[in-house]
Amino acid sequence: MLLKTIILIGGPMKGTRFRPLSLETPKPLFPVAGFPIIHHHIEAAAKVEGNKEVILIGFFQPNEALNKFINQAQLQFKVQIRYLQEYTALGTAGGIYHFRDQILAGKPDYFFVMNADVCGDFPLQEMLDFHRSKPSGTFCTILGTEATRQQSLTYGCIVENKATHESKSLAGQIMHYVEKPETFISTTINCGIYLCSPAIFSPLEIEFKKNLEQNYNCDQDHQRVGYDYTTAPAKEVIRMEQDIFVPLASSGKLYVYQTERFWSQIKSAGAAIYANRHYLKLYRKTHPERLAKNGAGKPQIIGDVFIHPSAQVNETAVLGPNVTIGKNCMLGDGVRVRDSVVLDGAVLQDHCCILDSIIGWNSTIGDWTRIEGTPNDPNPNKPFAKMEAISTFTFDGKLNPSITVIGSDVQVPSEVIILNSIVLPNKELSGCYKNQIIL
Ligand code: GDD
Repeated sequence: MLLKTIILIGGPMKGTRFRPLSLETPKPLFPVAGFPIIHHHIEAAAKVEGNKEVILIGFFQPNEALNKFINQAQLQFKVQIRYLQEYTALGTAGGIYHFRDQILAGKPDYFFVMNADVCGDFPLQEMLDFHRSKPSGTFCTILGTEATRQQSLTYGCIVENKATHESKSLAGQIMHYVEKPETFISTTINCGIYLCSPAIFSPLEIEFKKNLEQNYNCDQDHQRVGYDYTTAPAKEVIRMEQDIFVPLASSGKLYVYQTERFWSQIKSAGAAIYANRHYLKLYRKTHPERLAKNGAGKPQIIGDVFIHPSAQVNETAVLGPNVTIGKNCMLGDGVRVRDSVVLDGAVLQDHCCILDSIIGWNSTIGDWTRIEGTPNDPNPNKPFAKMEAISTFTFDGKLNPSITVIGSDVQVPSEVIILNSIVLPNKELSGCYKNQIIL
């Protein structure tokens, strides 16, 4: 069996909620639990037997960081990895249709599609087994998870056909799909992970042709009123959710595979802290060797902690739980870090304390300084797959935005407190800050 995986990495316009971190690096390459976000996707994809190729589709200009990542990941996972660049944002299915020849080359039996901005313990093999048990002609299996009623409104919502529930081969058939509904539809949401059969290209083609036709008619109208063509949306834009899933929902050819494993979006820096915590926890099962251990001459470790082998951490430091320390970081005497990500090259001077925060690349935090974010009040409802550590969700189900983020190359002096603040790159701070965005 031949499989491929497509990862939708989007482009530079979409990372605004991730600032100031996305100023430095394309968001899909932001490190979580020591590795770029999409490294976790590729690792999961490479584990599925028969998966020979990963295709990244996006509208970033090709860049050094992306090329370097691709070369390293190819060697590590022994799969071919390519980046295919859309000439403009073509939507979540437009790029797939545009690059159909490359995707279908070699005649894959199925292909996964993964949104880059999600994290999780992706059950790809289970999705494949599920999909293969469905009638031939099935277009797509969507990974679904349970959300609260409130959370569901900001996701794609799926209603299963309960009438088919009892039948093994038809269970999970989708009856109704609504993207980000205004009122409650269902607590089963789309995780942004799909398994498609090549047959999906026929509804994509129909949609593509319909678009061209409509655009042609629009063009005729616009010519009459002197329309500005430089701002016209690309005719090739196809949205997987609204243009494909919504009309196909009642065809009986879409299925949902429900997961109870860890899953979340990564739209904001706050969500990266949440993803970090869960990927570290997953390492207990998948990569126990990556987790730091206590021992003589080593810092004190509490819970799950990843320390890059090149980092220098004083043995009097106390780290964890849920901490990642990046490449070439230096941590002095008595440093305390909890629920935080410290990015490559950062220097944490003696006795500083970092809680619920992200410290940017090559920033320096002075002696006895305290950098702190605030996890919100726990959500009384259970969110995705009833996970623990729900306190990082705000009331509307979005991930907590009030962590502190220090951009790259920032100098924070000794003996100050930075609380719930965002600091843009290259700043030299001179005092304490609370609830501020420091531009
Ligand atoms: N290549 C490419 N081109 N990728 C794109 C484009 C595009 O034009 N537009 C978006 N993407 C990528 C983004 O980078 C992201 O990884 C993913 O597609 C989804 O992007 P959004 O358009 O921001 O959708 P969303 O995240 O609000 O919602 C989607 O994901 C939810 C799960 O996280 C939908 O699929 C929802 O139904 C779903 O619940």
